[in-house]
Amino acid sequence: MNTVIGTSIDTARQLLQQGRIVGIPTETVYGLAANALNTDAVLSIFEVKNRPHFDPLIVHVHSLAEIEKYTQHIPHKALLLFQQFAPGPLTVLLPKKNIVPDLVTSGLPQVAIRIPHHPLTIQLLQSISFPLAAPSANPFGYISPTTAQHVYQQLHGKIPYILDGGSTEVGVESTIVGFENNEPVVYRLGGLSIEAIENCIGQVQMQINSAGNPKTPGSLKSHYAPKKKLEIWQLAGLEINRPQAGFIGFNQLAKGIKPENQILLSPEGNLQQAAKNLFAAMRQLDNSSVESIIAVKFPDTGLGKAINDRLLRASV
Ligand code: TXA
Ligand code: MG
Repeated sequence: MNTVIGTSIDTARQLLQQGRIVGIPTETVYGLAANALNTDAVLSIFEVKNRPHFDPLIVHVHSLAEIEKYTQHIPHKALLLFQQFAPGPLTVLLPKKNIVPDLVTSGLPQVAIRIPHHPLTIQLLQSISFPLAAPSANPFGYISPTTAQHVYQQLHGKIPYILDGGSTEVGVESTIVGFENNEPVVYRLGGLSIEAIENCIGQVQMQINSAGNPKTPGSLKSHYAPKKKLEIWQLAGLEINRPQAGFIGFNQLAKGIKPENQILLSPEGNLQQAAKNLFAAMRQLDNSSVESIIAVKFPDTGLGKAINDRLLRASV
């Protein structure tokens, strides 16, 4: 199959209407999208991604009114979150209506739903009459793609079209929030910070690191991983003597590593910029001649929490 990269919403729409898979841009990472209501189309997402069926998919819609079509009810705090942060890097688990196939939710009673913040994808969603199921557009377990070229490099020949929306703005996946006894629980750290969520709805519980957490089955301990070994260093003095290693830093270079093998995610020390650049840096070093990758631990606040989470999963 010939894979085309382009900016035609019409082409993407037609393919999706035929039950085909299309790479789509969002503000977080690129997705591998298909008609969420068409079981055969959804099945082919699992095949292309080599993804186990126990790992459910996020459903993407363009408005709150659409969310109501696929969910039984929206708790008050979920509504507050959507009102403040959607479209944006927020996914909420809500009780699903029967119209959502069990395959999409891996048999779970709840569907993960979000409104992505990308003009091309919002226009695409507005042009079709069904929601889009879309996991990140990477082979299962590997680093998520933040450009159309990343998607092409790994999935060309397997999908007909990639809608090119440039580099993604946020760079890490959406934050996943669910409700237990009406109380909010964060299951995946992501592009929306915990601080922002707590400012909106008050304190939230966290259930993040449990490998094989039955509530968010895809939260595997090892994920987002380059092929090369990645180590996290709690660097104070940045004295590393590893001439063969690559380095991912925040805003400070390390000594003892070749300058050309070092990537600073944000020379200005901005965590949002660092998150945006994280996955591309991991890919660049993974595809370079370095033997292994060393990353610093980032400040544990704001998007630094999501960066540390992704580095940790990449390191095991
Ligand atoms: O930013 C994002 O969320 C990106 C873009 C493309 O939207 N998508 C993404 O999808 O990261 P994916 O498939 O790589 O990760 C989705 C994770 C699953 O692994 C699972 O942990 C959780 O979301 N999830 C999805 N549906 C769920 C459900 N019904 N119940 C519990 N967890 C669910
Ligand atoms: Mg993923």
